[in-house]
Amino acid sequence: MIMKKRRVLAAVMLGMLLITGCGPSKEQPVKNIKIGISVYDQYDTFVGQMMTAFNAYATQKQEETGITINVEIYNASGSQSTQNEQVESMIEEGCNVICINLVDRTDPTTIIDTAEKNNVPVIFFNRELVEEDLGRWDKLYYVGAEAFESGIMEGELAAEAFHEQEELDKNRDGIFQYIVLEGEVGHQDSIVRTEYSVNTMIQKGVSVEKLGYAIANWNRAQAQTKMNQMLEQYGSQIELVLANNDDMALGAIDALKAQNIPQGDWPAVVGIDGTDVGLEAVRNGEMIGTVYNDKEGQAAAMLELAYTLSTDGAVSSIDKLNGNTIRLPYIKISAKEAEAFTPPGAEGY
Ligand code: GAL
Repeated sequence: MIMKKRRVLAAVMLGMLLITGCGPSKEQPVKNIKIGISVYDQYDTFVGQMMTAFNAYATQKQEETGITINVEIYNASGSQSTQNEQVESMIEEGCNVICINLVDRTDPTTIIDTAEKNNVPVIFFNRELVEEDLGRWDKLYYVGAEAFESGIMEGELAAEAFHEQEELDKNRDGIFQYIVLEGEVGHQDSIVRTEYSVNTMIQKGVSVEKLGYAIANWNRAQAQTKMNQMLEQYGSQIELVLANNDDMALGAIDALKAQNIPQGDWPAVVGIDGTDVGLEAVRNGEMIGTVYNDKEGQAAAMLELAYTLSTDGAVSSIDKLNGNTIRLPYIKISAKEAEAFTPPGAEGY
């Protein structure tokens, strides 16, 4: 549940009391904390599901500790200047810590300066800022995953399918003709996933030929449009759709269905995220696999870090924290593994 207003609206009020002031008091035990979050786009499937998990962990933590945890989630609606203003509001409202899903991952300067001036720690997540920016103040953190890992796993899934199912090589030329559906330009997960998935297929002994690519910004509807165009251009030459995420893989499938192409003639479609809808498509055979982007693990890690920063500040007790970064591993899920797969949850938190 994400609100659009710039001024704080309580999206999730887990407690009855609002706090004043930022940061824990040494003299008095902390009774309530306030966490402000801004997401780049509330309609992004993966980020939305991560926020649902975050709220669930916050409720759980509140029950365990007896400390009231207020979580407020803002939607930056794709505007960095809106997000910068939201940070001002969160600070005015007394947030102890701020979690930022940057709109423009190359432009965190205003947020960092505002937070430092007010001594409010910032946890960036999912959209990775460059190392130099993360090093600009000692109260900046990042929670996410290693983009290249997901690319390698996606490439392995495609290579395994190509070796095991000869019908995927429709024209029997021994070459996997593919197209790529890419996420946003400049996002670490677009650039790196594409590069590593293709290189991994090659390393696994698959000859590949790129027919084309299109940018669909993580978005299912955009991917459907782009897939329609590529189907027009390349038709049944397409043997593989490498999508940078599940929503775009599903958009490609929407296009195949809308054009009444029988499932037996579809190209192999592979994605990343393991969202609920993505996993379902792997289970029902529409996708050959996906790579689980551990939204529960990332949400739990972010909550633990935010809670610690707002209470005793003893972040060294968080064992997954490496320097100022927490990265959760991806999990490869082939069609065979999808049925039995359950998300790892928040082990260790
Ligand atoms: C990626 C994820 C995409 C999208 C993007 C937004 O990690 O795989 O589906 O959510 O983050 O930044």
